[in-house]
Amino acid sequence: MAAKYQAPRGTRDILPEEVGLWRFLEETARSVFSRAGYGEIRVPIFEDTDLFVRSTGADTDIVEKEMYTFAREDGASITLRPEGTPSVARAYIEHNLYKQIPFRKFFYLGPMFRYERPQAGRARQFHQAGIEAFGSDSPLLDVETIDLAAQYFDAIGLTGYEVRINSIGCSGCRAEFRKLLRDRLASRRSELCENCNRRFDRNVFRILDCKEERCRGIILTLPLVTDHLCAACAEHWREVLAGLKALGRSYVHDVHLVRGLDYYTRTVYEFVHPGLGARSAVCGGGRYDDLIGQLGGPQVGAVGFAIGFEPTIAALGERARISASKRFDTLTTPTNVGGPVAAEPISVYLVAAGDEVRPALLQMAQELRLAGITADLDFEGRSLKAQMRSANRMKARYALIVGEDELAKGTVTVRDMGTSKQEEVARDGLVERLRTDAEVPPGSSNRRGQQPARPR
Ligand code: HAM
Repeated sequence: MAAKYQAPRGTRDILPEEVGLWRFLEETARSVFSRAGYGEIRVPIFEDTDLFVRSTGADTDIVEKEMYTFAREDGASITLRPEGTPSVARAYIEHNLYKQIPFRKFFYLGPMFRYERPQAGRARQFHQAGIEAFGSDSPLLDVETIDLAAQYFDAIGLTGYEVRINSIGCSGCRAEFRKLLRDRLASRRSELCENCNRRFDRNVFRILDCKEERCRGIILTLPLVTDHLCAACAEHWREVLAGLKALGRSYVHDVHLVRGLDYYTRTVYEFVHPGLGARSAVCGGGRYDDLIGQLGGPQVGAVGFAIGFEPTIAALGERARISASKRFDTLTTPTNVGGPVAAEPISVYLVAAGDEVRPALLQMAQELRLAGITADLDFEGRSLKAQMRSANRMKARYALIVGEDELAKGTVTVRDMGTSKQEEVARDGLVERLRTDAEVPPGSSNRRGQQPARPR
């Protein structure tokens, strides 16, 4: 007999036998994101509706059709969050988090709500793990976020995903490209689907990712946005792709990827999995340089992504799901709490002595993070002195200083932030070396009694 009450359509219970898998997915996110210097933020489940209208965008499917919106007794309108980005941006501005240090990194986990048609991996109450970094235009930051999503999927054992990436330019190049699209499409409107006809006036960019057969044929004849970027956006795009290559992350340039949220500028990306059918994204993200300013905050660049747990679980497949649950058991045995990290957490701040070495620094950060070491670096192009101040402020155990000299020699200058002692260490074996040193309490004299290398 069917139960009298059932969970509402598009929602489901996570039963005790499934919780191991969920906690594994959550703890792995915490561990991967915090190793890269992202701090957890918890924002409300509901917000003033206007926040989503202004950020996610009035003309998007989410705001037009998918929000759970309620009238409050006093007449104000509130909405269950359909995504996390607007709330994190609001919190950054509301708490003046940019006043002292404009550059901040956040991560969050939790349920989101969209009135969508439930299907494989898609729900009305679904769960995301996301990151947002505010305060930098650097293409290396875009690369860092993509690398972290890939680190996450690798850590949970998801195979077969593909990274699709595109650039949609800044508001300047987009305005020109919009005009170009309208010119090209004006005479063919009758051939477009109903949705695209609406989009023609309101959001012509969205036509590019229409999945309707009749529109696809026309879309293939349209110019590509990456051929119409302004000089600064073209350079940014080139550096993002070069950075991904340097980190060994493969990608596909999806010339029609525009994403369904309004705030994006420049880089947009999705991680897709072939096991999922039409709605194949397990992660979506990109850069949004105008949003913080539009919400009343400083004009700072921003980039982030969100991973969907339901699509990820669907993509993992039965065997991988079981092995992920088992890995959660290992993660929580008393000797192993906190996951596969060194006995004592080591934190490292990488300092660039010269701008040329910054891409190489991100590679080193990737290597350290993958080895379980918390590593962060500067994305604002600050001076060596200012970077050392950041290392201090973040209470890093070590600053790793790298200039062109060191890069050429394959070495790194390691500064113990407790004792201020410095020594030059070969880059090969650096991880082992930091781990061994970490067995000595921070600030005590060097275990090997070595003399510090030349002070800087
Ligand atoms: P989004 O593409 O709307 O972006 O969602 C990100 C991911 O959440 C999707 O790739 C998918 O895996 C999952 N997702 C979305 N809707 C559903 C659903 N109804 N059921 C299950 N999973 C779903 C955002 O949410 C942006 N806030 C991402 C971002 C952060 N961009 C910059 N920062």
